[in-house]
Amino acid sequence: MAHTPKAAIEPPIPGILGKAIVWADARFPLVKLYKEQLTDYYAPKNFNFWYYFGSLAMLVLVMQIVTGIFLTMNYKPDAKLAFASVEYIMRDVTGGWLIRYMHSTGASMFFIVVYLHMMRGLMYGSYRKPRELLWVFGCMIYLCLMAEAFFGYLLPWGQMSYWGAQVIINLFAAIPFIGEDLAVWIRGDYNVGDATLNRFFAFHVIAIPLVLLGLVAAHLMALREVGSNNPDGIEIKKNLSADGTPKDGIPFHPYYTIKDIVGVVVFLAVFSAIVFFAPEMGGYFLEAPNFVPADPLKTPEHIAPVWYFTPFYAMLRAVPSYFGTQFWGVAVMGAATLILFALPWLDRGKVKSIRYRGPIYKWFLTAFVISFLVLGYLGVVPTTVWGQLPKGLPLVGGMDFATLVARILTAVYFAFFILMPWYTAKDKELPEPERVTY
Ligand code: HEM
Repeated sequence: MAHTPKAAIEPPIPGILGKAIVWADARFPLVKLYKEQLTDYYAPKNFNFWYYFGSLAMLVLVMQIVTGIFLTMNYKPDAKLAFASVEYIMRDVTGGWLIRYMHSTGASMFFIVVYLHMMRGLMYGSYRKPRELLWVFGCMIYLCLMAEAFFGYLLPWGQMSYWGAQVIINLFAAIPFIGEDLAVWIRGDYNVGDATLNRFFAFHVIAIPLVLLGLVAAHLMALREVGSNNPDGIEIKKNLSADGTPKDGIPFHPYYTIKDIVGVVVFLAVFSAIVFFAPEMGGYFLEAPNFVPADPLKTPEHIAPVWYFTPFYAMLRAVPSYFGTQFWGVAVMGAATLILFALPWLDRGKVKSIRYRGPIYKWFLTAFVISFLVLGYLGVVPTTVWGQLPKGLPLVGGMDFATLVARILTAVYFAFFILMPWYTAKDKELPEPERVTY
């Protein structure tokens, strides 16, 4: 086939760099990609605070990968050496403490950023048609992120790493018929041990990050295909100017690249404050028992997962062990994450954004957020303390008050989804404006 040379472009900048761009562009769709993805990509002009978190999630992802690579250079995935190798990184490796604290703080910040990012989706109906797949990819990212955090948490081989993994893997044993064998298969042993540590290391450093990167690429491709939603929840592609660009859109670059930098600066200020002044964050980002080496013969007094898992952990504790099995708790916990996938098909409202939704949706969303936060709190508190919460209140029908609250809130969490087809169809919504408000 005859080779048709590309039309030569004008150097975008003077000097050698401009010439290099022209040279590369004759061999690679450099300028085309730059235009398609940045300068000719129109995003709604009314993005607000909530639209910072997608780019921040990308920043944290890159930061976790880079700091992770450096940690791997000195970490030893061996049950006899792992704990000491982390101490070695903290005390002897030049800058090791910084890399490690950036990575451990990054894990928690990842979840904060992603939870806020998901909250935006709920508020503005960003999961609705035509963004269903974008949302589904997001949910898959969220599941991967949980797996990534779980595998990573075992690596320092501290008491909480060890016993946390023990408890979570044992949950699989509650699955009828195959559970016991499944748990042994996951551990690679009858107890959490060296084989478990090795495979968790493999998953944490290569398998899950690869899947995560692939999913983020799919997430962004889906986003570019349909275009961003916005705080008004109206499609900007419906109102085009004579040149075919959306009237309510502005080029992503330079407008949003600059805006996102503001978000990055504020985020890094908060991030640095935590890394330099409170890396343990009062035991929420790094838990005290994890500064003690794993001891298979000594169970810590309280085993609780890191804060970002605690809403689901509280649900697990809230469900009674009918027939002496924890299976129902495990099922509820799994269903609580999987139900997110169904959201685009549960919502029957005519408008997308909370700005034009009726009161019932607002109440349900508020109740959902409160239930998630309170369950998160209850999951942090040891079960032994549940019986004394709140202080002085008697037991309710043989059940402690905290268990009752956890049960009601678990029901509220699910009601948000299960009743959605009903309340979104029935709600008194406001008319959407023709154009985005600014
Ligand atoms: C590693 C994690 C993630 C990264 C790097 C990421 C990245 C992004 C970016 C850059 C955007 C565009 C900018 C923005 O709208 O803020 C975006 C939009 C979006 N993301 Fe994510 N995301 C992640 C996780 C998730 C998760 C867990 C969900 C939901 C379960 C989700 C759902 C969405 C939705 C619905 C949009 C479109 C929002 C709109 O246009 O209003 N994302 N994401």
